[in-house]
Formats: sequence, structure tokens, C-alpha cells
Amino acid sequence: MEPISLVHASLGEQELAAVAEVFASGWPAGQGPRGKALEARLAQKYGVADAVAVSNCGAALHLAMLALGVKEGDEVIVADYGFPAPAQAALYVGATPVFADVRPDTYTIDPQAVADLVTPRTVGIVAVDTVGMPADYTELQAIADRHGLFLVEDAACAVGATYQGRQAGALAEVGCLSFHGRKGASSGEGGALLARDPAVGKDARLRSSFGIGSIFDMGNVVGLPIPTFTEIGYNFKLSDIAAAILQVQLGRIDELLRRRSAIAAQYAELLADEELLTVPAVPADRTHAWQTYMVTLDASVDRAAVATELRGQGIGCGHGTFAAHVQPVFDAQQKCPVSADLFARHLAIPMHAELKPNQVERVVAALRGAVRTHSSSTAVLGGAA
Ligand SMILES: Cc1ncc(COP(=O)(O)O)c(C=O)c1O
Repeated sequence: MEPISLVHASLGEQELAAVAEVFASGWPAGQGPRGKALEARLAQKYGVADAVAVSNCGAALHLAMLALGVKEGDEVIVADYGFPAPAQAALYVGATPVFADVRPDTYTIDPQAVADLVTPRTVGIVAVDTVGMPADYTELQAIADRHGLFLVEDAACAVGATYQGRQAGALAEVGCLSFHGRKGASSGEGGALLARDPAVGKDARLRSSFGIGSIFDMGNVVGLPIPTFTEIGYNFKLSDIAAAILQVQLGRIDELLRRRSAIAAQYAELLADEELLTVPAVPADRTHAWQTYMVTLDASVDRAAVATELRGQGIGCGHGTFAAHVQPVFDAQQKCPVSADLFARHLAIPMHAELKPNQVERVVAALRGAVRTHSSSTAVLGGAA
């Protein structure tokens, strides 16, 4: 049977044509004309003072920590459930990540958990738009304001989502985007830092290029000014090849997201009556980017057995995302029970813009069969027989 992949990047002829133009231009490296044009477009699209194109979202989070002055001894409260890049970013600068549990319904950081974790050492909060669902920014901003903390939005998965009518990525003073191959808009790898404060953008851009600014610009200056290295920096630049691909992807984002949303709606409709799992519910004040579609399996279901069965039928699936506090690298002496429970029961099923309705039907039929076969709940098994 034809395989149905868990993920698939919608990259095609238009993106190839954009890459060919960059090759012809002779400037494939970063911070050239394509990179600058992308940054201008992102700043305008998101209504922020500055947008810095970088190599990935992990780099954007790292630069955010540096630009916001996070240092050794500081505590940064991070969402526990999600790819643990925010906690890694806190560690890059010597700070301590403090893990906040999440809401059981949206899987996003629980504002009450954040409020309970604030100490005199807390300097900021990094909220995650979990697999594309925006967090509760109104409540989070109120907590940040009350305690004088920064608020960063990790919108890695949320390009195209909205919260109270505003775009995900622009919901906090700094927003970090990912353009990784699994995201709604992709250049294979890529990212951006969006900043309301121009000083944050300036700092991030400088540190993203070893602390010396754009080599492309220097090549165009008359005379021979010798650049100086003013900061410890990194090579976090996005190539102009990737920037050109992203220009095409941003033009397609509405259409790609419409297709993902239609698939999510089809899954929700077809699985609504399945008692052995729960489908995601989106609160009325926000929209989802559907980077990943995760169902929550009933506690009686053997997830590994279900996954084995789906994969055996050529259907891609995965565990979803991560509970960060249980990852050995963090050695956290904390408990986040909601996150731990979701980490144990979530199952990611195919979600991308190329899925066809008949493939969704096949996934649903296979999933329904597998959860019934692999549930220890005899009562339900009897009912389903
Ligand atoms: C919430 C979150 N933050 C950060 C990242 C890291 O993004 P990148 O791969 O662009 O560094 C990811 C990747 O999936 C993510 O899901």
C-alpha cells in the first residue's frame, strides 16, 4: 500500500526558480539582497520594528537571551511541553531553565504555573505555541508586567496561527520563528527573530554575524573601511538561498495553512466518536497552525503497539513532542504532571499540506482499528467488537 508520511515539505517549482535566481546573482551567502528583502517583508508582515533572518529558531532563541541580557544565575521560566529549545537557550547563557506545566486542553504553558514559579531570580518567560497553538498571551503579559519580566514567544511551529486576532510570532516583545522542513513555511532549515525594540533586533543581527555586520554591505562601501569585531558573535546567518525560498513560501502560506486546516477538520469530524482517543480542541479566541496533529490516547491504549501497527501499514506516526523536565540533560528536580501525562499519551499522525482526503480516511480507519485492538479496556473492546 502507498505510504502516507507523517510530514512533507511543500517545496516545488516556484522555490526552485527562486533558487536559480540566487545562483545567477552570485551572492548565495547570508545578509545579502535576498536576506534583507526577507527581513523587510517579515518586519512589515508582523508589524514589528525589526526582523532578523537567522539559520534556525534555536539560534533565534539564543540571540534573544543574549539581547535581553540573560546571564548566569538568572532563572528563565519555560514551557515544559514542546521541543526543549527554550530551555537549551537559557543554558547557553548560563541561566537556569525553570519548567512550567501546561494546560491539559491546549498543551500550552499554564499562566497559573508561571505565576507560582516566579522568584527574585526570575528574569523572564519563554512561552511556546505548542505544535502551532498560541499560548495565553494576555495572561502571560500581565504576569510579566507585574514582575518586570521579559516575555518571549517561541512561535517555531505557529507561522500563520492567530491569538485574539493578532498573528502568532508578534504576541510578545520578542518572537522566534522556525522555517525547518516540518513547519508551515520552510526553507529546509531557517528561522527569524522578530523584535518590537529596534535595539534588540540590532544586537541580534550583529551577533548573528560574528559581531561584525553584513559582509555584503562592506563590499559595497567606497574606500577600504576595515570592520572591527565589537561583540562575541556566532555564525547564525540565513543564506540568501534560503531567504529566496522563504519569499515564495510566505506567498503560499495562506493556501498551505488552509489545506492543513481542512485536514485537521476532517480528522476531528471522523474521530469525534472514537472513545479511545481525544482530538485537539482550539479555543474560540485563537487559530492553530497545525504543524503537528496529535491525538491523546486513552490511558488503556498501548501507544507503542498502535504506532507499530500504523507503521506496519505504511502510515507515519510519532510520539508528538517532549516533556522537557524529564530530559536527562536538564537534570530538573521538578514535576510537571500534565506535561508528563501528555508526553506519555500523545500520538502524532500524518499532517502536511499534500495529504489527500482519501489518505486521511485511511489513517483514521487504521488508527481506529489499532486503538481498539490495543486497548486493555475490556468494556470498550466488547463494545467495539
Ligand atoms: C517549540 C520549538 N522551538 C524551537 C524549535 C527549534 O527550531 P529549529 O529547528 O528551527 O532550530 C522547535 C523545533 O521543532 C520547536 O518545536
